[in-house]
Amino acid sequence: MSNTIEPIPRTGPRADETRTLPEVGGIELTGIDLSQPLTQERKDWLMRTFRAHPVIVFREQNLAKDQQYEFTLTFGEIEGLHVNRFIDAAKYTPVHTVSNIGPDGKPGAPTRERGNYYWHSDKSYHDVPSLLTMLHGVEIPAKGGETQFANTALAYAALDEATKQRLAGLRAVHSWQRSRIQSRSMPATEEQIRERPAVDHPIVRTHPDTGEKALYLGNHGSHILGWPEDEGRALIRWLESFATQPAFVYSHRWRLGDLVMWDNRCTLHRALPHENMEAERRVLHRTVVKGTVPY
Ligand SMILES: [Fe+2]
Repeated sequence: MSNTIEPIPRTGPRADETRTLPEVGGIELTGIDLSQPLTQERKDWLMRTFRAHPVIVFREQNLAKDQQYEFTLTFGEIEGLHVNRFIDAAKYTPVHTVSNIGPDGKPGAPTRERGNYYWHSDKSYHDVPSLLTMLHGVEIPAKGGETQFANTALAYAALDEATKQRLAGLRAVHSWQRSRIQSRSMPATEEQIRERPAVDHPIVRTHPDTGEKALYLGNHGSHILGWPEDEGRALIRWLESFATQPAFVYSHRWRLGDLVMWDNRCTLHRALPHENMEAERRVLHRTVVKGTVPY
């Protein structure tokens, strides 16, 4: 991860069209049109940029769902099946819509799906969790509705040596069922629990591309394997509050057309409610790339 910006190939944005997002080690880019086919040179540059910057904000995009799908494929295999499809199959397609629009077509505050408001790493309750996620802003409310990102590699690096030693070798249990309880969402169904039994991952994971260590936890995290559950939960919550202190957090204020992608292996994220949820629509298109087994 780096706060310096690699010179961009001539086909990419100019240096004056980039800005770093220092808290999260991210980068913001304008002057690049993701709807156009990517040259190999541009693809290589994007892969290197993503390795150096776990959050990338692309401004001023206008991608149809199939174009977002194509762009996402640049980074690997797209995840199609979400465990929530048992509840709403139409909504959980490979490019699915994240919104505050109810079944009646009207905006409102979600009451049954609240997990997005809690810090998490996407699909950490899978044995093979998500590598990256992309959100493309299609309808944006005037105030609020930010997505926040925390860099858990920077947070891990800032821990004292004694804590790092204490965490070495610990594994956290991640559970869809527990996540639903912790986010006060609609409880997991029997079918969901059967498909997604609890899994465990190292609490400190090594990034497969950069070799950097990062805290790996969040709201899908339940407890520490082999520990009394309360004690493990307390440690997970403490680490989460350490990792999400303002020094490591970037709050993305959405503009229409933004496409934001992030690396789930070394970040946590959450959404903030927007100010006028009963009247204003917030609609984002989401794609997810499948990752690898954490180690
Ligand atoms: Fe998420």
